[in-house]
Amino acid sequence: MDISTLIRERRSIRKYQDRDVPREVIAKILEDALWAPSALNRQNWQIVAVRGEQKEKLVEAVAETNKYFKPRLEKLFSEKIVNVTLQFLRTLGGAPVLLLVYIPKLVAEIRPGMSSLERYHHEQGRLTSFLSAAALMQNILLLATAEGLGTCWMTAPKIVEDEINEVLGIEGQELVSVIPMGYPDYPDQKPPAPPRKDNKVRWIGFEQK
Ligand SMILES: Cc1cc2nc3c(=O)[nH]c(=O)nc-3n(C[C@H](O)[C@H](O)[C@H](O)COP(=O)(O)O)c2cc1C
Repeated sequence: MDISTLIRERRSIRKYQDRDVPREVIAKILEDALWAPSALNRQNWQIVAVRGEQKEKLVEAVAETNKYFKPRLEKLFSEKIVNVTLQFLRTLGGAPVLLLVYIPKLVAEIRPGMSSLERYHHEQGRLTSFLSAAALMQNILLLATAEGLGTCWMTAPKIVEDEINEVLGIEGQELVSVIPMGYPDYPDQKPPAPPRKDNKVRWIGFEQK
């Protein structure tokens, strides 16, 4: 698949086959993904790959987010969408593997009216760590797609980050996102691509002469 097709073909997958993903396949994806750019080449990210019993415990912890999301989703979406979303949060689509991406835990205190220099000093450590981790995560998503695997980038589990870290025995690190991974289960058809918006590029200095 060429890069353009790969980017367009990747979808957020919310239902997975009951089929294990070989460790070597995951390891190859992560090895390549770790060639992502990182601020100051710090590479201060950490990927935690979980399956089996610990994964089930994480699914249970994330299922608790239903309580928080249900009333919010009900205000915004139709019953069908609410049910599908809550079902995914309850089960993580039956994904056999969860990848969790972490960065060092840093605090950034941003106040209104700060100059860009002050903001930079306060937030650059946390901000650039997040951005670097995001580049790593997009690599993971694309490489997984190329392997025929499905993924879904998830920040909803951050609500139960404390519980997740307790299950994994993690301290002093901040959870960036969770990625369920597995072979997609499409009994009917691949999920349709949510439409993309126009007018997201502003061109300056490109006028025809
Ligand atoms: C930062 C970020 C957080 C996301 N968090 C969630 C999430 O918690 N739960 C979920 O089901 N999807 C989540 N998504 C997936 C988006 O809903 C999805 O990417 C978007 O609807 C476009 O669909 P596509 O990925 O199939 O192109 C997240 C995506 C991003 C980039």
